[in-house]
Amino acid sequence: MSPARFTNKLAGQRVLLVGGTGGVGISVAQALVEFGATVILSSSRASKVEDVCAQLVSDYPAAKDRVSGFACDLASPNVEANIEGLFKNVGEVDHIVYMAGDRLPTIPLEEVTLEKWQKCNQVRTIAAVLVVKIGTKYMKKDRHSSIVLTGGSISEKPIAGGWSMLALIGAGLNGLARQLAFDLAPIRVNCVAPGVIETDLWQGMGEEGKKEFFANHESKIPTGKVGQPVDLAEAYLYCLKDANATGIVIHSNSGTFLI
Ligand SMILES: NC(=O)c1ccc[n+]([C@@H]2O[C@H](COP(=O)([O-])OP(=O)(O)OC[C@H]3O[C@@H](n4cnc5c(N)ncnc54)[C@H](OP(=O)(O)O)[C@@H]3O)[C@@H](O)[C@H]2O)c1
Repeated sequence: MSPARFTNKLAGQRVLLVGGTGGVGISVAQALVEFGATVILSSSRASKVEDVCAQLVSDYPAAKDRVSGFACDLASPNVEANIEGLFKNVGEVDHIVYMAGDRLPTIPLEEVTLEKWQKCNQVRTIAAVLVVKIGTKYMKKDRHSSIVLTGGSISEKPIAGGWSMLALIGAGLNGLARQLAFDLAPIRVNCVAPGVIETDLWQGMGEEGKKEFFANHESKIPTGKVGQPVDLAEAYLYCLKDANATGIVIHSNSGTFLI
């Protein structure tokens, strides 16, 4: 029999996808199932978690014992208790991928208030830190265990239009991943920084607004096409599989840095 040194790297691994019911999460979940991993999805709405799990099982019937999910609202004031509850349900994991993100916090500076700024941070940074704090108690202290955070290309590439708060959040996540790679070693910690990816994250713009925004972006970027979740999923897979990668930020952004 031929060796399977590469294709089996994720087989049998338990991977928790926090915010795993969105566009990016579903693609990563599909890839993980295809590579033989066990996928546990989480997001705030139980009905969405159930629907996405059911769709995965329908697409991959042979993987029905490798797909499960639990609701956990990260925007709640009880976020810490919610996360404790999530990990009690999930148990031991080999990897945690954090990709939860609520409505895009594009707030012009003059409209920022303490309350709005705290709300911007709750799901993307505050809850991320708490998931890492609590989640590491459920991980082996091993370089084959890893955590992947999700930032964004905005951390390196400023654009006009009220993105300053999101740039700070993205840059903070890059720094957090690098620092935690030391603090949590030998568990690996990395960050994926997507450019524009075609998912529901942009639905707040409305169908017409989104079409216009994507068309304008595509007229400038080298690939000529906004990123698709199936493209970006590769960045997460790489972070999980390369036991030598820690403290790095992986960019997948249609060549955005070149424009
Ligand atoms: N798409 C892009 O262009 C892009 C670019 C840069 C960075 N990113 C980042 O990539 C990550 C994934 O984005 P996506 O494009 O897949 O977005 P998406 O389709 O909107 O998915 C977001 C995920 O976060 C979950 N979520 C939202 N609020 C939550 C809460 N209070 N508690 C728990 N989970 C919550 C959503 O599920 P529920 O709503 O059911 O809770 C969903 O599973 C986000 O962090 C986003 O900021 C995306």
